[in-house]
Amino acid sequence: MKYFFALMLSLGLVAAPALAANGLRAAEASAAEHKILVAYFSWGGTTERIAERIRKETGGTLFRIEPSTPYPTAYQACLDAASKEVAEKSRPAIRSQVEGMDSYDVVFLGFPIWWYNAPMIIDTFLESYDFAGKTVIPFCTSGGSPIGVAMDKIRLHCQSSTVLDGLTANGSVNVESWVQKLGYGK
Ligand SMILES: Cc1cc2nc3c(=O)[nH]c(=O)nc-3n(C[C@H](O)[C@H](O)[C@H](O)COP(=O)(O)O)c2cc1C
Repeated sequence: MKYFFALMLSLGLVAAPALAANGLRAAEASAAEHKILVAYFSWGGTTERIAERIRKETGGTLFRIEPSTPYPTAYQACLDAASKEVAEKSRPAIRSQVEGMDSYDVVFLGFPIWWYNAPMIIDTFLESYDFAGKTVIPFCTSGGSPIGVAMDKIRLHCQSSTVLDGLTANGSVNVESWVQKLGYGK
């Protein structure tokens, strides 16, 4: 029995560092294999906080989708502006461009739900680049509406991309574990 425990212990001692080394190699590989962009639009800061958590978890690059003309800061005025954009199918201009978009193979794309959908500025963003061959991973925050309707719009724009199921990152959703499960944790 003594020898049995000694054997288990020695196996354990051998196995533990081997597992740790493999885990490390896997983590290094996933961070090195992909160039990840975390692009987001946020009006009130909630989506921005989620985007920052994804950036931290992936080690990717953060890009803020900022309108050339800022939205009103008052809630009702912003609701009205957003509603007008939907009615007019507008493409609100974005202040700056992603540098070297071609070099990214994975794009997390975040936004708040506006009028049950992604804001029109997300259409502008999607029409500004060629997403062919990229993996697009949408996420949103909302007052309760799920990401589903926005997914239809994104899939339409990104027909030559791999579009993964989007995350509605409300409440206590574990964003970090979602990123890990997708295999994009660093
Ligand atoms: C113009 C506008 C429209 C909105 N429409 C919806 C909606 O249809 N459904 C919903 O659940 N929440 C809606 N909301 C709430 C936002 O989706 C929610 O507060 C979100 O977390 C805000 O993210 P942000 O702080 O990054 O802007 C709306 C908010 C605004 C300002």
